[in-house]
Amino acid sequence: MNSPKKTVRIGVAGAGSMGRNHVRVAVANPLVECIGLYDPNEQQGSNVAKEFGCKYFNDFQTFLEQVDAVVLAAPTTLHFELAKQILLQDKHCLIEKPITVEVSEAEELKAIAEERHLTLAVGHVERYNPVYPELQKILEDKEILAIKANRLSYNTSRANDVDVVLDLMIHDIDNVNCLVPGQLELVGAVGGNFYTNNSDYVTAIFKGANGVVCDITASKASQTKQRTILISCENCFINVDFLRKEIEVNRYAQGAYVSSNSDIKYKQESLVERVFVPNVEPLMAEHTDFAEAILFGRAPRVTAQDGIEALKIAIGVQAQCKN
Ligand SMILES: NC(=O)c1ccc[n+]([C@@H]2O[C@H](COP(=O)([O-])OP(=O)(O)OC[C@H]3O[C@@H](n4cnc5c(N)ncnc54)[C@H](O)[C@@H]3O)[C@@H](O)[C@H]2O)c1
Repeated sequence: MNSPKKTVRIGVAGAGSMGRNHVRVAVANPLVECIGLYDPNEQQGSNVAKEFGCKYFNDFQTFLEQVDAVVLAAPTTLHFELAKQILLQDKHCLIEKPITVEVSEAEELKAIAEERHLTLAVGHVERYNPVYPELQKILEDKEILAIKANRLSYNTSRANDVDVVLDLMIHDIDNVNCLVPGQLELVGAVGGNFYTNNSDYVTAIFKGANGVVCDITASKASQTKQRTILISCENCFINVDFLRKEIEVNRYAQGAYVSSNSDIKYKQESLVERVFVPNVEPLMAEHTDFAEAILFGRAPRVTAQDGIEALKIAIGVQAQCKN
């Protein structure tokens, strides 16, 4: 099969730790022509450009004139101002999560994109993790009783312009919001700021439709890295590891006494099913979806509305933590 023509000219704005990965993926994606990157930090920008053999722009306007679409990976507090400029120049935009800091800002961006028929996608990258669609398939005929999501890190040196809710928890807020039917009702949240001025450890409790119990913890204060979702269903327990890209479905079988000759033994069985998960790089899948959304005029997998819903819930959690 011939590969599709490279028609989406993409540029990356912001070449920090996440932007560098976006450049790496854009350069390798066959649906994309990576025009280059913009970063006001010349040293940072030109280093990343050199590493991936693409062009560095030190002027945002010149950069915008060269591209059809921008992947925006600047600090979160700048998302609104930069994305607005991008969209007002009729460029499509994949904006890193969280979409913005304020809901009104995100709604304004969504309205501009709709009015100008532009693709506005949000970088909730876990939805592109290959475990996610597999999990959705498994859950199709299951009733969820409870979900527990853990996103733990020890990394206080980056993205501290926002708290751990907007930096990390927003991933699982989006995940859980999509997996649990109906509206998530926030029951309570508590946070601590141990290493930064913002909350760096937060647990939030939600109730979903039909009484589904959800608890989500996000931490930048734990000496480990963990990204897991544990789901108790009526007939099974599902353990999802987003880092290892693994899913285990556990089923408990009742124990029984069995006798053989004069021996009586207690036999306990449980069944563990390890699900096959294709080896896909989530960020590459996100870029491909963004490019296809532009090329074929369809909605991206994570829309501006999804970003807004996750942000509204996250802001509710932040407010509870301040109480
Ligand atoms: N999807 C994910 O898993 C994930 C992971 C990490 C970060 N992020 C998101 O990516 C964004 C960037 O985070 P990071 O960790 O890369 O931060 P970072 O601080 O490492 O990088 C930010 C970069 O943006 C540049 N910048 C500053 N002002 C700019 C401007 N006006 N225009 C363009 N670039 C500008 C900085 O010079 C820096 O190089 C944040 O919104 C964060 O939430 C997403």
